[in-house]
Amino acid sequence: MDKIPLAIVGCGGMGHRHLYGLAELQNAGLSPFDLVGACDPVRANAESLADDAEERLGKRPQVVESLEELEALGVVAVDVTTTPRYHHTVAEEALERGWHAMVEKPVGLTVRASNRIRQAAERSGRILSVAENYRRDPMNRLGKALLDAGVIGAPRLMIHNTIGGGSHMTISVWRHQKNESGVLLDVGVHFADILEFYLGPVHSVYAQSRLHEPIRYNPAAGPAGQSSSNPAGVYGKWQKQMPAEFEATAEDASYATVLFESGAVAQYIEDHAGHGQGMWTRQIHGSEGSLELPSDRSGQLITLHKDGESICDASLLDLVPDFHLEPVTAALFGGGRLWGYQFPFPETDRKLLAVEYGELGLAIEDGGPIEVDATQGTRSVALSYAMLESSQAGRALTMEEVLAEKVNAYQSEIDQELGLA
Ligand SMILES: NC(=O)c1ccc[n+]([C@@H]2O[C@H](COP(=O)([O-])OP(=O)(O)OC[C@H]3O[C@@H](n4cnc5c(N)ncnc54)[C@H](O)[C@@H]3O)[C@@H](O)[C@H]2O)c1
Repeated sequence: MDKIPLAIVGCGGMGHRHLYGLAELQNAGLSPFDLVGACDPVRANAESLADDAEERLGKRPQVVESLEELEALGVVAVDVTTTPRYHHTVAEEALERGWHAMVEKPVGLTVRASNRIRQAAERSGRILSVAENYRRDPMNRLGKALLDAGVIGAPRLMIHNTIGGGSHMTISVWRHQKNESGVLLDVGVHFADILEFYLGPVHSVYAQSRLHEPIRYNPAAGPAGQSSSNPAGVYGKWQKQMPAEFEATAEDASYATVLFESGAVAQYIEDHAGHGQGMWTRQIHGSEGSLELPSDRSGQLITLHKDGESICDASLLDLVPDFHLEPVTAALFGGGRLWGYQFPFPETDRKLLAVEYGELGLAIEDGGPIEVDATQGTRSVALSYAMLESSQAGRALTMEEVLAEKVNAYQSEIDQELGLA
């Protein structure tokens, strides 16, 4: 069968990382795609991605600056890795042009923008997949299998606590701007997805959110050029061009209580302004035991605490005899029944992005399922904003209120700027 003509739209850090994922899939002999276009209004970024593609895929995609120019290349699917602010305009236009689209998280910059994408996908009948990578981590697959097998009984409480960051810039300036996707959306939306991945639909949220660090510092701009956060090592050249210090307008910490429809509760701390002891904790406590889960994409081990024992080895697999990773994940990570893995971060990163491409390819070619569709992606955006909206409203909010845009005081200025109000 002919390869699916694909374009990457948005050739910054994540665009490059997606390309590495595509190459990972191709090298494993599993790619159904032909990368024909690299699209970015910043031409130098598109050229950089095309150069990398030539090296890694053996073929240079055409460099273009707009979706219009992709028409001539016979594109069938686009991978939208622009900054979140442009997800809805690019995705809507792509769907209207009849293309399938994979869109990086957060699916839209606000709940309204996300709802717009969801509606556009429904109208078009085309595939809309949200590139949510954390849940695809083999360790999260195993954690979920253990939970579903009832190994810890009925889940009662999830603890998700992350603290760190100080006053350093997280990757880029836009991640600290309210109208461009603050860090509580950029990072928090992954954790929102993880909460529902493990424990099902969220019912309501009460949160206090803060902007602790109104000035952020970018050490990469200094003489030492040392980056404070540079996942997969792709961001350095852009970070050197960013200001050494700048004003942050987006909140950087949420402290929340989350109630699931099941009756389970999550205690949630996401603090990107921590100066003291850093923290990573993800635990799920049930009626018969608890699971201690490792940080996403680390490959570290899960620990089961039960009956006075702690199990943190291959015998966890005995508890889930039916557990098998999806075929593409198994092929790339080296086994269908993993209880840990060890790869350098950039390799883990590209394997998970390859898995997303693999799913998209099967969906286009064979009507295979999309795990994180526009509806689920929008729920994660709504859950992240529910924390910010709850803090502003001073009360607990239901997901229904936020999803239906009945409560959007926090987001309204962003929607206005986007022309969506
Ligand atoms: N899943 C993950 O682990 C992960 C990690 C990092 C980023 N992301 C997501 O990927 C997306 C991109 O983030 P990034 O770190 O690459 O940002 P970035 O700033 O490095 O790159 C964004 C690129 O998009 C381009 N762009 C802007 N508007 C465009 C348009 N209309 N058409 C085409 N290109 C356009 C910019 O010129 C830039 O090259 C964001 O949604 C972010 O949340 C996901």
